[in-house]
Amino acid sequence: MDDVSNEGPLYLQIAERLARAIRAGTLKRGERLASVRELASQQAVSASTAVQALRWLEDARLIVAKPRSGYFVASRPTALPEPQLSRARPRSRVVHLDELGQEVLRQSAVPGLISFGAACPEPELFDQDRVRRAFTKVVQRHRELLCTYPLGPGREEVRRAVARYALGLGCELQAGDLVMTNSCMEAITLCLKAVTKPGDVVALESPTYFGFLEILQSLHLRALEIPTHPRHGISLDALQLALDTQAIKALLVVPTLSNPMGSCMPLAERKRLAQMVARHDIALVEDVIYNDLAEQEDKRRAVRSFDNTGHVMLCGSFSKTMAPGLRLGWVDGGRWAQTIHKIQSVQAGAQTAVVELALADLLNQAGAAAALRQLRANLARRVDEARSLIAGSFPRGTRVSDPGGGFILWVELPAGLDAVALYEACMAENICIAPGSMFSASPRFRHCLRLSVGGRWGKEHPQALCRIGALATQMLEAALRSRAA
Ligand SMILES: Cc1ncc(COP(=O)(O)O)c(C=O)c1O
Repeated sequence: MDDVSNEGPLYLQIAERLARAIRAGTLKRGERLASVRELASQQAVSASTAVQALRWLEDARLIVAKPRSGYFVASRPTALPEPQLSRARPRSRVVHLDELGQEVLRQSAVPGLISFGAACPEPELFDQDRVRRAFTKVVQRHRELLCTYPLGPGREEVRRAVARYALGLGCELQAGDLVMTNSCMEAITLCLKAVTKPGDVVALESPTYFGFLEILQSLHLRALEIPTHPRHGISLDALQLALDTQAIKALLVVPTLSNPMGSCMPLAERKRLAQMVARHDIALVEDVIYNDLAEQEDKRRAVRSFDNTGHVMLCGSFSKTMAPGLRLGWVDGGRWAQTIHKIQSVQAGAQTAVVELALADLLNQAGAAAALRQLRANLARRVDEARSLIAGSFPRGTRVSDPGGGFILWVELPAGLDAVALYEACMAENICIAPGSMFSASPRFRHCLRLSVGGRWGKEHPQALCRIGALATQMLEAALRSRAA
């Protein structure tokens, strides 16, 4: 897949060119970059375009600005190579999941366990006072609300607040089209119910979030896993081939910070994806749950922002970015909006109005942007620390993702290492990880694992990461010895 497009704003083209040079090692760690004036004259652009390009690289943590000295290539730990492009087979499968995913979730909730298993950010990462204040205000102002039956697709106030929020994703939504749900997962389920029937094929990234596979299984849908690049997301060439040769009813994609790879589709690919689904007249269910965690602003823009035919159904919630305990999600079903309204009113019902009004208040507050900046910075520090610990303690041949935000790492262990056996060895030492096999309907990712670093992060967590590496090394050596014997 091509690394960058030649489309998009000029600053982005310059920034991506420099990013490639940094990733390829042409520009070395610690090396000083051209000044704003030098860069502007080298590239024949204005100083403000050069500044924008440098800011983009700074947001991507590829360079750092040193006061009065200029810009330098960041010393981000990059000792390990990134995972390979996944190679899924172009055949759809019935989804038969074992109990592993649910077991990992159950274990992750056990107090005292050192967990990298569930993608649940810890409460301390959020501005809890802001959330508490919003709730108190709503309960005091609307004393009757908890004793009032909520009906309909959600309070007008919250749907307007979500429509306003979606402007930040580049989308112009109408409050009247939006439906509030109890989670992003419910929003996705409603979308799939609106456009599929049992036996239909749904295409998704490979690896994909195991919760999606659970939804497909419960709706009796077949999964078609599409090869996915660890940085740029789903391969549109592979998807095009699949669309040309198979009957696909819907696509379910996380274009920003996909779970578990952490990939972010480039802008030009987002536009191409919107055009592809319109041309093939199929539904794209777009999950934007992680968009606000992307370090680069352009990666927060939704595919839906390029959709002018209504084929993109947009789903989100605030579980990863504001307050997981709200249990509120939302969906705009595009051309299927009315069908979603109907299914929701028959099968799901209204959400708690107090929570909706508190969310509306939180979304409208000026503090929301600052809270997100803080969250992104805290998560970036953890991801950097975890990546360098993995580089220092996991067996040689390990690959690890370098996500552009969020808190999830995808680790590819050397071939022959069984991550389910590693999970069991870790559990025996009170450490929980998520084996790669959870993230596919095939056994393709048995040598991979997902590590979430968003949960509790105490002194024991860095040590536990090193311990996982030591256990993996021991298991690999034992496997090599038994093969040689
Ligand atoms: C991609 C993705 N979508 C949805 C969810 C679940 O979101 P919610 O808690 O709002 O159902 C997760 C949780 O891990 C996720 O990774």
